[in-house]
Amino acid sequence: MKTLLKGAQVFANKGKGQFVKKDLLIDGDKLSVSSPDEQNSCLYDGLFDFRDKFIIPGFVDVHVHLREPGFFYKETIKTGTLAGAHGGYTTVCPMPNVKPAPSDFANLKVQLDIIDRDAIIKVIPYGTITREGDGRSELADMKGTAPYVIGFSDDGRGVQTGELMEEAMKLAKSLDKPIVAHCEDESLLEGGYIHRGQYCSLHGHKGISSESEWVQVARDVELAAKTGCKYHVCHISTKETVDIIRQAKKSGVDVSCETGPHYLILTDMDIKEEGRFKMNPPLRSMEDREALIEGIKDGTIDMIATDHAPHFKEEKTKGLEKSAFGIVGLETAFALLNTHLVNKGIIKIEDLITLMSVNPRKRFGLDGPLSMTEDENLCDITVLDLGREWTVNSENFMTKGRATPFDGWTLIGKPVATFVDGRLKFLEL
Ligand code: DOR
Repeated sequence: MKTLLKGAQVFANKGKGQFVKKDLLIDGDKLSVSSPDEQNSCLYDGLFDFRDKFIIPGFVDVHVHLREPGFFYKETIKTGTLAGAHGGYTTVCPMPNVKPAPSDFANLKVQLDIIDRDAIIKVIPYGTITREGDGRSELADMKGTAPYVIGFSDDGRGVQTGELMEEAMKLAKSLDKPIVAHCEDESLLEGGYIHRGQYCSLHGHKGISSESEWVQVARDVELAAKTGCKYHVCHISTKETVDIIRQAKKSGVDVSCETGPHYLILTDMDIKEEGRFKMNPPLRSMEDREALIEGIKDGTIDMIATDHAPHFKEEKTKGLEKSAFGIVGLETAFALLNTHLVNKGIIKIEDLITLMSVNPRKRFGLDGPLSMTEDENLCDITVLDLGREWTVNSENFMTKGRATPFDGWTLIGKPVATFVDGRLKFLEL
């Protein structure tokens, strides 16, 4: 099966990414640059006219929640991966806060079978660090899950003691897998549910301190240095965290991190008294947002992940205090970042592609292309229309989740086609 993609600007990752105009050929699951000769002599099964479009390595989201097994009423592998395809993602990595928790092979197999049956795009799950995925119980059977997982995480919960984290890092290192940490010291939470800052005190809410995040990051980078473990920090949100990771990288610690689109675009002063503004970590202050943007620009922050965290409607309509933590993100991430970082001149489009595709693929050693001009790449690609204006309407989402602070926002730029292993998974021309 051969398909010609004609006329697009394609992402060529020579040192720093850049776009060049080339025709591409999909042959089975492989992608290559198509020469003019070839085009005359070949018979194609399909041809797409992608003039005015941009073709890039498919996005990778290393931090999503797909909720199966256990919580299908919030999301399924099918609806979550459909949302991923619509958002331009070709690979997503679901966090292990599902039921049963993938803490050994038998439990993980339940999830792997659903993935085999229902996934629309590539899905590579996490195994838990601890038996219960609660950051406190004994270590999980990491050896049993290691061959099938991208890494180990107790996302949703921080690992509460240095001793347990050190043990986990030593084991992860011996298995050649990363520890991917949700950093949150529960002794510092004090019942908070939004950032302990200006909005919180103006409106009489209970706050989550910045310290609850960065003290664990500070502890863990030392443990990563000591054990030599590959360490990745989830959804960083505070200026202190950016500084700690910047310094750790300078001193050679094997650390990387992600932040989410919402932390780069919103602050606590954008909060409204609705559950769709509640996630963990919370929207922070303007100084935190500025530090995150600086971290994106100087390479301290390696990648952007959505923390796509769908919940059932009733769980998100109980106001700030009572709603569940989490917002959806797969279907809006690219357009938000294109509109609010690229089009405002904060970063270049090539940098955004690097943050959403190239860097996560490299750091986690995932299959798929880093550039469109290398030969015989696996054909996991996304086609972007950078000029398309559209308005977010959560009622039209593929995900079952509806909670997003960006409902009603008008954005510019949209994924319009997604191919996984050469097969078309989404098209909206
Ligand atoms: O907002 C969040 N929701 N943060 C987390 O860490 C977990 C996630 C969830 O599972 O809903």
